[in-house]
Amino acid sequence: MADSDVVRVIHPTLSKASRLIREVPDFPEPGVLFRDISPLLADGEALSTVVTALGEGHEFDVVAGVEARGFLVGAAVAQAYGTGVVGLRKPGKLPEVADRIDYALEYGTASLELAADTISAGQRVLVVDDVLATGGTLNAACELLGRAGAKVSAAAVVLELTALGGRDRVLGADVHALLAV
Ligand code: PRP
Repeated sequence: MADSDVVRVIHPTLSKASRLIREVPDFPEPGVLFRDISPLLADGEALSTVVTALGEGHEFDVVAGVEARGFLVGAAVAQAYGTGVVGLRKPGKLPEVADRIDYALEYGTASLELAADTISAGQRVLVVDDVLATGGTLNAACELLGRAGAKVSAAAVVLELTALGGRDRVLGADVHALLAV
């Protein structure tokens, strides 16, 4: 488990949540230290503080959560703040696709799709995901929503891996991270 020496707590109510991020060496490949928020999500008190903090200070009409763990926190934020939620999905899952964006990863490419009849022009969207790493996913999410005519209020993540400099890659929104390492 990480402790607060390892995970820098940005938001004052989140020290418990920070202790519930599991460090998994050599996943998904040798040499990579994976930060797993599953124990945090499984704890009611920690989840509640995270959900409140993700939405705090932002004005939004709908939440967009990025597949897959962004769905979990995104739906909870939407429920807490009384909005709907839109899932930005990996390819092949949606019956009707409004738009798709392909983006580069460190090795290879990935894609996100937006479902038809979900986002209206002018809607204020809070983008939510669990982790910001290289920033490619969050930047693609913001671009996809922007193309749909949405105004992205902010991009809010639970954990930022600062060494990768991902926030500089996110061009379409201010990035707000609750925890950073
Ligand atoms: C993870 C994470 C973010 C993304 C961040 O998703 O949940 O969405 O990577 O990486 P980036 O900043 O380098 O783009 P991933 O698709 O690996 O897993 P998941 O589907 O389990 O959420």
